[in-house]
Amino acid sequence: MDSSHLFKTKYGYFDNTEREYVITGWETPTPWVNVISNGDYGLVVSQAGGGYSWRSHASMNRLTRWNQDLVRDVDGRYLHLRDDEEAAGDGKHFWSLAWQPVQPEYDFYECRHGQGYSVFTTRYANIETRWTVTVSPNAPLEIWLVRVRNLGESPRHLSLFSYMEWLLGAAPDWHREFHKTFIETSFDQEAGVILATKCNWEPPVKTRSHWNTDWPYVAFHAAWPAPVAFETDKKYFLGQYGSPAKPGALIEGKLQGSSGRWGDAIASLRVTLDLDAGEERTVVFVLGAAETRQEAISLARRFTQPEVAGQALAQSRAGWLERTQRLQVDTPDPALNLIANGWLVYQAISGRLWGRSAYYQTGGAIGFRDQLQDSLVYLLLGQPDQTLAQIRLHARHQYADGSVHHWWHPLPTMGSAAEVESGVRTKISDNRLWLCYVLARYLEETADYAALELAETFVDDPTPASLWMHCRRALDLALSQLSPRGLPLIGGGDWNDGLNAVGVDGRGESVWLGHFLYGLLISYAEFADHRGEVSLAQRYRDEAAALNEKINQIAWDGEWYWRASTDSGMLLGSHENADGKIFLNAQTWSVLSGMATPERSEQAMQSARKHLYTPYGALLLAPAYSRPDPDIGYLTRYASGLRENGGVYAHAACWAVLAERKLHGVQSAYDLWRSFCPAVRGQEPDAYMAEPYVMPGNIDGPASPFAGRGGWTWYTGSAAWYLRALIEGVLGVEASMEGLRIQAALPAGWDGYRVNRTFRGVVYDIQVKRASSAESTGCTIDGQPWLGETLPILEPGTTHRVVYMCH
Ligand code: GLC
Repeated sequence: MDSSHLFKTKYGYFDNTEREYVITGWETPTPWVNVISNGDYGLVVSQAGGGYSWRSHASMNRLTRWNQDLVRDVDGRYLHLRDDEEAAGDGKHFWSLAWQPVQPEYDFYECRHGQGYSVFTTRYANIETRWTVTVSPNAPLEIWLVRVRNLGESPRHLSLFSYMEWLLGAAPDWHREFHKTFIETSFDQEAGVILATKCNWEPPVKTRSHWNTDWPYVAFHAAWPAPVAFETDKKYFLGQYGSPAKPGALIEGKLQGSSGRWGDAIASLRVTLDLDAGEERTVVFVLGAAETRQEAISLARRFTQPEVAGQALAQSRAGWLERTQRLQVDTPDPALNLIANGWLVYQAISGRLWGRSAYYQTGGAIGFRDQLQDSLVYLLLGQPDQTLAQIRLHARHQYADGSVHHWWHPLPTMGSAAEVESGVRTKISDNRLWLCYVLARYLEETADYAALELAETFVDDPTPASLWMHCRRALDLALSQLSPRGLPLIGGGDWNDGLNAVGVDGRGESVWLGHFLYGLLISYAEFADHRGEVSLAQRYRDEAAALNEKINQIAWDGEWYWRASTDSGMLLGSHENADGKIFLNAQTWSVLSGMATPERSEQAMQSARKHLYTPYGALLLAPAYSRPDPDIGYLTRYASGLRENGGVYAHAACWAVLAERKLHGVQSAYDLWRSFCPAVRGQEPDAYMAEPYVMPGNIDGPASPFAGRGGWTWYTGSAAWYLRALIEGVLGVEASMEGLRIQAALPAGWDGYRVNRTFRGVVYDIQVKRASSAESTGCTIDGQPWLGETLPILEPGTTHRVVYMCH
């Protein structure tokens, strides 16, 4: 198979030799974007050139102005190219190097989204351009490398004009006429850099007074070769009543060079280019935010040098290659290989952990449960220290009573976390338990019990306590919040945020939370045993047993588990309900936690299959709610079939893959996994609509007129979970305390597969092969027979070849 043109549709294809998704026109069904970040600076860029940039926090600290608009996709960072002599003589006087904002009728247009960069290639009026947008791996800036080539026979005199609007602070600045009055722009003649500052910022900073703090950055925009002119006032770039599609500056070929505090702040630089016939030239632009003016100028100077810019691009690509190659799979399914070998890891790290933003959701905050779960991806990459760092960060956002911030705003440049951060402490009942969950997975991966002793402070108590103590407080708090009949109280919601009214008065219960808590109590009893804390272990086991008994006694609905009860005692997810009769999580987690008996597990999952499985994934609940229910929450306020209201919620559907594997084996797990694989769904792009290379948060369910349509891409916790569902649920490679466990089994039609998985510092090169009738089954490690599913713990730093033969 030609790996440079995989899964081709009328909109694009995967080029796996370059590890890129190639979009062959601008007109995709929705904006198909890239989220590029280095963990501090980040940007979103769409195939048409829309998007925005930020530092540290995509909505508190946005550099450029952008309106979220999936239909128009109009705001971005723009480059116009002008023919200063209009040599073409056909009215093609100026155009843009991405489709927005001028919307030219190109002779050729292509946008390639790569891991760490995007490239726009255009041909128009006998000029070819190649515009690469990337983020420096280690400096707070983005780089635009532009190559312009004269395809014609005569010399051309051209000018490149950049354009973007400054926002410099919290987005959206709905009161922009107010906000813009605090921005000051200037042009450093000597360095050729536009600088922009803002003397008022409204981050949620506790120690400063309201609307009375400087924006602590200096934004900069620079170019190489040295710009011949600049402009920082929108009025003089666009012209009054002008537009980015037809800016006055481009019509007239003139930038006026105004700056100061009295205009409407934008940045535009003009670079001139004289190209002989066939000649190609490079221009570099940078955009970033530094902490001082001096740093801004020095970064601008350094990164506009073409060699430095080129190196940054190469380093960015190499960094992503290294990160994504830490886990490699090779199966007979090319869609699976494409998504697993790069894109999911890239989405989880660049999009979710680092950028924390996208097109459907402009974020920036850290969600307590969200980024903790995302950090599980590092376990699959053999980098458990990264997961541990995330665990420690979240432990510091816990209160001494065990409760936690639902989310908080990281604003590192503003000062220490204690001084500047603000977070929201809610009554949501599951957040704190994800700390315990992720730490348990970390321990299984590493057996690093010493990590339990690492000490972190609490939000309201500076005395450091061990991670073990942090988790105990979370568990104890959960155990103290049970209903009179012994089920966990749902509080202000559980994993499903949209169930936010179910238990606000303190009576509603969550069955899923019971399953979740049960599994944790069993794990933590084992950890307590390991620490010699016998009575604690016993207590956790007793609590687990009581919970098990109650849930199985009270929450079994006949053919499945109901999901929750409201403050007024109404059940959700019961056969009694007209809408929301059955919920996925209450079935999958009964299996994953080991709480359901084999018979009930089977019955619960059969019910899930019957009511919730669709050809495009497992629905979160069915039937969808048909009207808002103030006793349940905003989940019921979504249109029927949309997102959590009866759509496929990809995050939860991943858990169904894992439950299928546990109960029904590899074929069911694989079938379900593949049913919502974006590369597969993307083969019908007009129905699916979303990017084929990243996970969507949701896929519309049957109650939607757009059943099967993907949405809310990039910013979804399903990226890391979908990879885990694949490695554990389909390929059967799972960490356990005793060692790496391999359940070798093959879906129909597969003759084998290979997984390279690093576990406790050892690279296991695992191959599962279908044995012919003449061959015997079993396992060998480096050619020597090995009995059993769990691989031995070997010398860190070594690589071993593991072969399983199976039928
Ligand atoms: C959103 C939230 C996540 C939650 C999920 C389900 O994705 O960010 O925390 O678990 O919705 O409601």
